[in-house]
Amino acid sequence: MLAIVNCRQVVTLRGPARPRARAELREIGIIEDGAVLARDERILATGRYADLKGQIDAGAEIVDGAGGVLLPGFVDAHTHLVFAGNRADEFEQRIEGATYEQIAASGGGIRATVGRTRQAGEQDLLAAARRHARWFVANGTTTVEGKSGYGLDTESELKLLRVIRQLCREGPLEIVPTFLGAHEIPGESTREQYVERVIEEMLPQAAAERLAEYCDVFCEPHIFPVPDARRILLAAKALGLGVRVHADQFTASGAATLAAELRAATADHLEHTDHESMEALAASGVQPVLLPGSVYSLGQRRYPDARAMIEHGLAVVLATDFNPGSSPTASMPMILSLACTQMRMTPAEAVAAATINAAYSLGRGADIGSLEAGKRADFVLYDCTDYREVPYHFGVSLIKGVWIRGRRYI
Ligand code: NIG
Ligand code: FE
Repeated sequence: MLAIVNCRQVVTLRGPARPRARAELREIGIIEDGAVLARDERILATGRYADLKGQIDAGAEIVDGAGGVLLPGFVDAHTHLVFAGNRADEFEQRIEGATYEQIAASGGGIRATVGRTRQAGEQDLLAAARRHARWFVANGTTTVEGKSGYGLDTESELKLLRVIRQLCREGPLEIVPTFLGAHEIPGESTREQYVERVIEEMLPQAAAERLAEYCDVFCEPHIFPVPDARRILLAAKALGLGVRVHADQFTASGAATLAAELRAATADHLEHTDHESMEALAASGVQPVLLPGSVYSLGQRRYPDARAMIEHGLAVVLATDFNPGSSPTASMPMILSLACTQMRMTPAEAVAAATINAAYSLGRGADIGSLEAGKRADFVLYDCTDYREVPYHFGVSLIKGVWIRGRRYI
């Protein structure tokens, strides 16, 4: 048995077994002077220490929380974690005035990473991804969604999905795999040719090898416009995959409405989404995944309208969008800070969006995302006395301990 005791706050996120919306986003189930008991990778009980101490075995491993705060591990529902190299050069070019779109048009951007990623062997990519996975765990994240999308040919896309599978097997970070072959059009193909290849070759092979749970498309008028995105995502659904969509990041192009039409699990980004599309998302039960790190890192001003989405009853999710171009951070505490200061989400709403709601968006709401009996023993101990300090002390890591499946890694 493992017992974490002497926690000033245990933030449980206990509540109804569904994604949280409206006022529920603020009901995060704080237990003061709390403890958590776990055995065999699972949580046995959470409660006040005074009420639980009689259940602690004589041989239990007891960890003194030292008056800190315990939260569920973050669930990061949108990452591009496997790629070769970095794009620090473009970071500087943007500071000097070039835009993300201009850099992409001149051969940089996603295609620059694709060139490096195609050349890299599976072992090199695995080593790069292991390094990224360590950053996630060090920043309090215990499960991530991981997308392919820097291969853009059948062999390279499958290589990326195999790296994701291998990394997940190695642990401790759990990775939910998403096929994002439709991330960009490779230089050697026309859009039409490439969409055919995604539908006829890549998707069937990824599904046959069970390499992906979800399919995502970068839906923008100049990359994959709505009709192409619809064809790809319908093909994915026919193969049994769930659907996620990069939607309305740079333009309001109807991508969010497409997500609603297809009853996607998520519509991600949504910087330019209007109220009508928000209503469509709400009517279809699609969860918005908001990615303020990419707005921040691209030096843009327009954050998604989280307040309007919450008013529309949407079960919002927050994620890093970790990738080498628009959002090179693996830090969910930083994302929470941006959500609070730039999108006016309260700290409680941000925590719910980054844990229980993110877990539901990945089809894992019954297993992770809250500290409740029977769920996986994934939790993080912070050196503070109030959970609101996590987003408040931006840029400072308060993390003292990270447990995944009941084992300590930090
Ligand atoms: O989510 N929008 C497309 N994909 C990423 C950026 C990827 C890159 O620049 O390498 C995003 O922002
Ligand atoms: Fe993304």
